[in-house]
Amino acid sequence: MICLTLIDAVLSRRSIRNFEKKDIPKEVLYQILEAGRLAPSAANKQPWHFIVVTDEVIKRELSKGLFSRFIKDAPLTIVGCAHKDRIGGRWSMISTAIALQNMVIAAWAQGVGSCWIGAFDEDKVRKLLSIPDRYNVVAVIPFGYPVKIPQPKRKKSIDKIMSFNKFSK
Ligand SMILES: Cc1cc2nc3c(=O)[nH]c(=O)nc-3n(C[C@H](O)[C@H](O)[C@H](O)COP(=O)(O)O)c2cc1C
Repeated sequence: MICLTLIDAVLSRRSIRNFEKKDIPKEVLYQILEAGRLAPSAANKQPWHFIVVTDEVIKRELSKGLFSRFIKDAPLTIVGCAHKDRIGGRWSMISTAIALQNMVIAAWAQGVGSCWIGAFDEDKVRKLLSIPDRYNVVAVIPFGYPVKIPQPKRKKSIDKIMSFNKFSK
């Protein structure tokens, strides 16, 4: 079993859009979910609910979009929902995004690829998965073993994205 160090996992991660026809073992899935469960959250609200979609018909429905066509090929897709609590949807969305990214990294460390999908129709996903109105849908993320790991995307250099002490370009 692959198990990268944390920093190797963070630095080598890629968005994966092609998946082998191979299931993710239960223990690997639960470790991925555990990485989300233990994530930090504003006021420790843990405002999230994660739906693990394995149903072929639902996956096919989720795939119906220009930027999500590969969902149907992934053995499972995790849909991250954030409770619209009193401290505002904003922090709840941020907390849930952090939990989802913890899962993405935990998965990658074990050889499981994934891809964040933000291009989804929230109303459609809500209906399809019976998500109550008191939750926002944060993201839809297919997970599976990569057929091929793509070349790294071009990233901005460090001097272009940070400054010390004050914002400067
Ligand atoms: C919030 C968010 C939304 C994204 N939405 C989509 C999407 O709808 N479809 C898709 O194919 N990729 C999506 N991506 C993946 C990005 O395209 C990808 O992260 C980016 O091109 C950089 O590539 P890398 O992840 O391999 O570094 C999304 C990523 C993030 C963080």
